[in-house]
Amino acid sequence: MASFFKSFVTLALLVLAIGSTNAQLSKDFYSKTCPKLFPTVKSTVHSAIVKEARMGASLLRLFFHDCFVNGCDGSLLLDDTSSFTGEKNAVPNRNSARGFDVVDNIKSAVENVCPGVVSCADILAITARDSVAILGGPNWEVKLGRRDARTASLSAANNGIPPPTSDLSRLISSFSNLGLSTKDLVALSGAHTIGQSRCVQFRPRIYNETNIDSSFAKTRQANCPRTNGTGDNNLAPLDLKTPTYFDNSYFKNLIAKKGLLHSDQQLFNGGSTDSIVKSYYSSPSTFTSDFVAAMIKMGDIQPLTGSQGEIRKNCRRVN
Ligand code: HEM
Ligand SMILES: *[C@@H]1O[C@H](CO)[C@@H](O)[C@H](O)[C@H]1NC(C)=O
Ligand SMILES: *[C@@H]1O[C@H](CO)[C@@H](O)[C@H](O)[C@H]1NC(C)=O
Repeated sequence: MASFFKSFVTLALLVLAIGSTNAQLSKDFYSKTCPKLFPTVKSTVHSAIVKEARMGASLLRLFFHDCFVNGCDGSLLLDDTSSFTGEKNAVPNRNSARGFDVVDNIKSAVENVCPGVVSCADILAITARDSVAILGGPNWEVKLGRRDARTASLSAANNGIPPPTSDLSRLISSFSNLGLSTKDLVALSGAHTIGQSRCVQFRPRIYNETNIDSSFAKTRQANCPRTNGTGDNNLAPLDLKTPTYFDNSYFKNLIAKKGLLHSDQQLFNGGSTDSIVKSYYSSPSTFTSDFVAAMIKMGDIQPLTGSQGEIRKNCRRVN
């Protein structure tokens, strides 16, 4: 009877382990094989941010753009080859995603201390966490054990990452397609408390929309000409006051109709997410804990584990 019970429990645990796709990710995945991993990544991220504060934002965004396209598998980092066109030239990334040279530096530093052990996908996860923490945001334990994809897909990147022209319903469905809730959507969008956007992404909003503070629109118009094709790459901060500090002011901006992107203001525009925005504005600690939970959840999207994929030596190409 006892042994029957024991094999039943074993079976039940096995079923649980198989049922949850990220069962193999764990916080101590490299504790034996690369004990210096965390300080090595952090010091390289830190130098990059000291050199340019915006880099923290750019690195955080890379993790989002990786995870939303065939899972967190480092596919975003692959350069184009003769056999595939990668994700770097997809619409959401071209002339926009940045920090690839910093990722190369981090990868080299990690290869120096433990060659051939740590995946590029995991490096993006740790880098995103460190960027947030260094810019004054929360710290958390990152789950690890992802492996790297051997291919990348331009079309998957074009289809997977929602454009800033999205309305609320499209934002909600693009997140829910990946198992992320509406609350996760709002919490993760709080990442726009840091970083910059190009004029081409917010021009229609500052000239044509009505749910925008008029003096804010004027301020942004000053460095983003009305005519399409002029000043397209001029930058403006996603959070008007503290774009290099990770706080909850993104939500304050939305309530004041000072969201920079159309998609930002959709989260506070009389719809179902208004109450979440208000709660993150009034309670920074609720934002922090929901953001951390959502980052971990995003990091769990379809990882390659076990013997799937590979541990790339150079994040830009397959071995
Ligand atoms: C909800 C849907 C989202 C949309 C439509 C969106 C769209 C955008 C756009 C259009 C930009 C400016 C790009 C440019 O002008 O070149 C941007 C920047 C940024 N996004 Fe998002 N984003 C979304 C969600 C997220 C999430 C979930 C994160 C991270 C958790 C994130 C992190 C960032 C950061 C940090 C920047 C600034 C990057 C830099 O300065 O280099 N975004 N986003
Ligand atoms: C604003 O809307 C008008 C009318 O739809 C359009 O012609 C114009 O190009 C738009 N301007 C911008 C900057 O989007
Ligand atoms: C300018 O670009 C916006 C957004 O892409 C577009 O909706 C609009 O029609 C364009 N306006 C002109 C005059 O081409």
